[in-house]
Amino acid sequence: MNSTPCKDPVLLNDWHVVAKSSDLRPGDVLGVQLLGINVVVWRGQDGQVHGWDDRCPHRSVRLSAGRVENNTLVCLYHGLVYDGTGRCVSVPACPGYSPPKQACVPTYAVQERYGLVFLCLGEPSQDVPPFPEWGQADYRFYITGPYVVRSNGYRTIENFLDAAHFPFVHGGILGDVNKPEVDDYEAMITSEGVYAKDVRVWQPDPYGTGVGDYVHYDYWAFRPLTAYLRKLNPTGECLALLYSVTPVDEETCIAWMSGALNYGQQITHDEIVQFQDKIVLQDVGNLESHSPMKLPLDSSTEFHLPSDRVSLMYRKWLKQLGVTYGILT
Ligand code: FES
Ligand code: FE
Repeated sequence: MNSTPCKDPVLLNDWHVVAKSSDLRPGDVLGVQLLGINVVVWRGQDGQVHGWDDRCPHRSVRLSAGRVENNTLVCLYHGLVYDGTGRCVSVPACPGYSPPKQACVPTYAVQERYGLVFLCLGEPSQDVPPFPEWGQADYRFYITGPYVVRSNGYRTIENFLDAAHFPFVHGGILGDVNKPEVDDYEAMITSEGVYAKDVRVWQPDPYGTGVGDYVHYDYWAFRPLTAYLRKLNPTGECLALLYSVTPVDEETCIAWMSGALNYGQQITHDEIVQFQDKIVLQDVGNLESHSPMKLPLDSSTEFHLPSDRVSLMYRKWLKQLGVTYGILT
């Protein structure tokens, strides 16, 4: 697939999830697309993860079709061997030949956090987004996804920030059509991104006890394509979710959810994963039906309700950041 590569520094210099750490074992090679650019991600036998331009500089085939051998990546076509720095170190057809300077694959910064592999196509402008609960005692952790969504990444983030759709898309689970009200709440742009404070909605069974209650969400959009929520009740039960949306191109994305919760010990890990899968599946149909698919930043294409305060602030922030990729013009 070929699509327009991104030119926005704010996205190129950001970290994006390209794999779950557990899905990339030593010797594994993955071909992924990020912001319209083909990337090969591979893990050496030494455990080190690499992210490179997915193109062999010899004859321009995909390196992701190759294989990992002794911490090197071997191209499928003529067997050229690239070491961990992307430099060609062996040409089987020409023993003793010294590869030229251009026999080098462009490499990208990668790091593993929260059980995920993050990659930056440019110069990382900051660290990966925070997830304060990750690794804390008393919490259980899980990662769900990848969810491939044929939708715009920002629309997918907006959906995560939007509690008003719960009764209608997730009725009986995250909301109730008989109690659809979203109380007014504050949303603001801060130095950390967008923050929405104390979004209160009714849920039929928020803590797995069979009892309905009002719940309070705080939402953040730390990056254009990374959001986070914390659902904290007055007695201390807390669910925190980091939602990472990988922009494949302007109209396709892959979502990953990392969760931490300190209650519901009776709920198994598999049940949690099945629950999140079900919720995301309920969202996908809507997300894929947007038309226009790209996100409008002016107010002539769509109108906003008081319950959309956070989404309105998110669009304002994207405009301030100068984002153009995936934006309706
Ligand atoms: Fe990769 Fe020739 S194209 S080795
Ligand atoms: Fe939803």
